[in-house]
Amino acid sequence: MELYDLIVIGGGPAGYNAAEKAGAAGIKTLVLEKRALGGVCLNEGCIPSKALLYSAKVYDYTKHGEQYGVTVQGSSIDQKAVIARKNKVVKSLVSGIGMTMKKHGVTVVNSEAQILGRGTEGFEVSADGKTYTGRQLLIATGSTPVIPPIPGLREGVSSGFVLTNREVLDLQEVPREMVIIGGGVIGLEMASYYNSAGSHVTVIEMLDHIAGNTDSDISGILKKNYQSKGITFKLGCKVTAVNPNEVIYEENGQIFKAKADKVLCSIGRAAVTTGFGLENIHVHTERSGIKTDEQMRTNVAGVYAAGDVNGISMLAHTAYREGEVAVNTMLGKKDRMRYNAIPSVIYTNPEVGSVGETEESAKKKGYDVETVNLTMRYSGRYVAENEGGDGIVKVIVDKKYRRLLGVHMISNYASEIIYGAALMIETEMRVENLKEIVFPHPTVCEVIREALFEIK
Ligand code: NAI
Repeated sequence: MELYDLIVIGGGPAGYNAAEKAGAAGIKTLVLEKRALGGVCLNEGCIPSKALLYSAKVYDYTKHGEQYGVTVQGSSIDQKAVIARKNKVVKSLVSGIGMTMKKHGVTVVNSEAQILGRGTEGFEVSADGKTYTGRQLLIATGSTPVIPPIPGLREGVSSGFVLTNREVLDLQEVPREMVIIGGGVIGLEMASYYNSAGSHVTVIEMLDHIAGNTDSDISGILKKNYQSKGITFKLGCKVTAVNPNEVIYEENGQIFKAKADKVLCSIGRAAVTTGFGLENIHVHTERSGIKTDEQMRTNVAGVYAAGDVNGISMLAHTAYREGEVAVNTMLGKKDRMRYNAIPSVIYTNPEVGSVGETEESAKKKGYDVETVNLTMRYSGRYVAENEGGDGIVKVIVDKKYRRLLGVHMISNYASEIIYGAALMIETEMRVENLKEIVFPHPTVCEVIREALFEIK
């Protein structure tokens, strides 16, 4: 039996970051990971999709350069080369995490973990034919794609006709007709890639808008942009069956068919709380995931949960922070998880960046708000770089305390800009102080400053 201070189950962003911080603090740590370090984010999510989307961006530049006085003839996209480059990117980052674990003295065992129960010295976990004991446990098992019981969907997944986030990042050929079920984050990012790569993409979404909780003006602009690029959106539509080479959906009580060479099912993810013995230590779970408090503690003393598995905010950057909060709590340091200033990004082109409250959510919470909605054309750099660009920035301020509540934007670089807004919200700065911040000129981020000056 090997005894550790901490056993981390799952080597994704929550798990590996927590392990790194724990190792650095001198906690004897073991990470058990059944696939590759990096989890969904690094192997079949955030990073590989960004590699694909960057290839698409380069290709799009070659196709649409004339607006900027540049003509490129005969450019094409080589899907196999795109995927090979993506695999290279992933491989190098996975090995980087392995080295970080080593540097901080963390032991990594590549094997499936099973929690056996509680022994005299701690929690007993089996992996790779051995039993390990951890004085503390961090559950970071992540999430898995939801495959609803739609007739033909599961069969489609088995045959390879229906893809999830994993397979869609590995297609060796660009499908002619691609149907995407779900117009959320994964659906839109993949719609963006395959649209650029040459597929005819149809997005079927149950709601009357795309991009979930995104500000409605922004999701409307995003939809318009992608419609003009050739994506078909079927909104307010319910998929009722999947047959080989077609998806059947219902719109206003009528049945329609969409032809498909491949289907992506991206209708959300579910926390992984079963199959690894959680019940053996009586950890309390809810429908959304493992129930945790602000310190990422579960109902069982010594057992923590971080990342998608608690179902609170299924984002890699939330997972990092939750992992840190868990480790700080183990170390006896005062820390707590706050969710009000977590940025979210949709890596379409243009990108969507949001943080904090939307006007709607702020009003629902009872804030008296002032909202400024400004065209991105207030930024000289934006105009120089975006022919015909129709981006906007929205700033939401609490009138009473004159504090920033939310920033939402659709623009190039939104992903890189939004953390600045998160910082402003997190530090609870007042509008008057924010106006004193000097932004570099000319930049796209300057519009946030412009918007703040519009506040009465
Ligand atoms: P999602 O929750 O973002 O979107 C799912 C969409 O599917 C929703 O709009 C929903 O209304 C729709 N839907 C549900 N059932 C449906 C049905 N039967 N027919 C048609 N539409 C249906 O989930 P998604 O895109 O699968 O992403 C999963 C998770 O991964 C999310 O939590 C997301 O935040 C995260 N993620 C984050 C990324 C980022 O930060 N850039 C990138 C990709 C994923």
